[in-house]
Amino acid sequence: MKQLALVTLVTVLPALQAHAQDAAGGQKLFQQRCGACHQIASTRNGVGPHLQGVIGRAAGSVEGFRYSTAMQGSGITWDAAKLDTFLTNPGGLVKGTRMTQRFAKPDERKAIIDFLATR
Ligand code: HEC
Repeated sequence: MKQLALVTLVTVLPALQAHAQDAAGGQKLFQQRCGACHQIASTRNGVGPHLQGVIGRAAGSVEGFRYSTAMQGSGITWDAAKLDTFLTNPGGLVKGTRMTQRFAKPDERKAIIDFLATR
């Protein structure tokens, strides 16, 4: 029984650590790739809407931010999969969105999305 618990720890701990590292790396990547347009530490809007609590949020729903009609009418609720699709090619998911930056690297997208999930 003891052995089983140990085996569980040995397999689960590294996964947890990797997740924490991803989120830390994701924070840095977020600042580099998204920070010029999006706030996350505050709810101030910039070129883009703030992204605090974006996972589970309805697209186009931040008070006081002037979204494209495309984003407002998209009917999306942001989750990890939708964010991944959006970041890969925003216009492919939300035709006519004003966010045009594409993020081609899957590992970078994942790190950023993991970080978003912590805020
Ligand atoms: C050059 C500016 C710019 C950069 C860089 C940028 N975005 Fe955006 N983003 C925008 C704008 C503008 C909108 C609003 C789009 C619209 O209304 O169609 C937006 C919208 C979004 C939305 C929808 C939010 C909502 O409230 O529905 C998400 C999610 C998002 N961006 C995530 C990101 C992430 C993550 C990154 C970095 C990997 C990023 N963006 C980089 C400008 C940017």
